[in-house]
Amino acid sequence: MRVVVTGGAGFIGSGLVYALVSGGSEVTIIDDLSTGSMDNVHPSAGFRRLDVTGPDLKDALIGAAPDVVVHLAAQVSVTVSLEDPEFDRRVNVEGTRAVAEAAVAARAGRVLFASSAAVYGDPAELPLTEESPTAPVVPYGRSKLEAEGVLSEVLRPAGVDFACLRFANVYGPRQKAEGEGGVVAQFASRMSSGGTPVINGTGRQTRDFIFVADVVNACVQAAEFEGVLALPGASGPAYNVSTGTPTSVNMLAETMRVAMRFGGTIEHGDPRSGDVEESVLSPAKAASVFGWHAVVDLPTGIGGTAAWFLQRR
Ligand SMILES: NC(=O)c1ccc[n+]([C@@H]2O[C@H](COP(=O)([O-])OP(=O)(O)OC[C@H]3O[C@@H](n4cnc5c(N)ncnc54)[C@H](O)[C@@H]3O)[C@@H](O)[C@H]2O)c1
Repeated sequence: MRVVVTGGAGFIGSGLVYALVSGGSEVTIIDDLSTGSMDNVHPSAGFRRLDVTGPDLKDALIGAAPDVVVHLAAQVSVTVSLEDPEFDRRVNVEGTRAVAEAAVAARAGRVLFASSAAVYGDPAELPLTEESPTAPVVPYGRSKLEAEGVLSEVLRPAGVDFACLRFANVYGPRQKAEGEGGVVAQFASRMSSGGTPVINGTGRQTRDFIFVADVVNACVQAAEFEGVLALPGASGPAYNVSTGTPTSVNMLAETMRVAMRFGGTIEHGDPRSGDVEESVLSPAKAASVFGWHAVVDLPTGIGGTAAWFLQRR
């Protein structure tokens, strides 16, 4: 396959590029390096330093002639989205529109979009399925949901297959301490430097933590799937990418304490505004449609992540 990965110099994107290249795909990365890094870029992948909202995107995609476009480039910070919702919307909605239009112009066969559990907001039911109501509570979640609509609007009439992969809380090596799902990286960086990890609120809030290699496999399997991913109906192209297992932040912190061999104290701070109390997403649809399910359990994933952070100390 020829694949374009936007955001391929970032945390999830760089892992995906390594997996695609080892599987024999020809990969071009498009990334403006705003949060990504050249250190993450696979030496055998093509690299274009471009902003997805900029004027050169269409020509870059036409030049790369991809079978599949995986669109991961985004404004990823909930905090930034609260401070500057206009910027968040420009990158996440208009950037996604530009990628979709460029994918049509480049005659790509499929677009995979990194959406988020944030589109659901405060869940009315658990586990969340793709049919659950979407009521995002932060601008980041609203922009991801609007971007899903933009993909439908641009790609369905053009006959380009697509999927909106709603990632749960992703963690793993190379994650930065800032940004969505960054709690594992924040705890790991505090624990490895002898600092004090701070849990926002009681720590009884739950999240669906998923190891990055599982998310990468979901993208690869969706890219290679021979059927149609954009099923009819509003939630047709949406797929949760999750474990289906809730973990409290307190439990996460204790698992990390063991893996990081941390002997210090863990403190509790104020709850973070916009944080939902409970979150767990059913991964059943991705399993039944394109045969993917997560295989890495929390202690194993945290063990691998801890080893990476400890090595860099
Ligand atoms: N990490 C998570 O827990 C999580 C959860 C849900 C969804 N997601 C989504 O997954 C995707 C990847 O996230 P990540 O955690 O790897 O974050 P990341 O910040 O490591 O990666 C994002 C990449 O996109 C690039 N980028 C940002 N704006 C750009 C622009 N305008 N033009 C070109 N490149 C740009 C950055 O330089 C970076 O390399 C994002 O779309 C994010 O919203 C992540």
